[in-house]
Amino acid sequence: MNKNTILLINGPNLNLLGVREKKIYGNITLELLIKKLKKKSKKLKINLKTFQSNSESKLIDKVQQSKNLVNYIIINPAAYTHTSIALRDAILSVKIPFIEVHISNIYSRENFRANSWFSDIAIGTICGLGIQGYFLAIDAIYEKMLNNNIK
Ligand code: DQA
Repeated sequence: MNKNTILLINGPNLNLLGVREKKIYGNITLELLIKKLKKKSKKLKINLKTFQSNSESKLIDKVQQSKNLVNYIIINPAAYTHTSIALRDAILSVKIPFIEVHISNIYSRENFRANSWFSDIAIGTICGLGIQGYFLAIDAIYEKMLNNNIK
């Protein structure tokens, strides 16, 4: 396995980034965001793979298939953050360390968003910093890769 591989997973409705609720999620499309994240990753010699799905089962399948193929996961589970014990179990089963990212501050919105089924098992959670959270997650993992001497 390439030892510098990150899988970025985006959950439901994040395909509509730049179109949906722009005041909360901003103007940038997912396509452009991924382009920028890949550019940054390339500079850091990180192999960034990406996956987005609106389907809980497809997200679970992707996580299961990633076992031994990726070193870290960055995941924005979107609405499944608050509902999917199945996706949580999938991540636990593959034992891939991960960072949870949310564009909005899930703690300052509706009450039902304040619960995450991922935060307690994540390396860390970044939320409320807009799309910058994704870039910060890559920086954090890069540091870990350096510290683990796998780069
Ligand atoms: C989100 C927050 C979730 O509550 C919401 O369902 C999303 C996006 C975020 O990035 O802020 O779809 O994960």
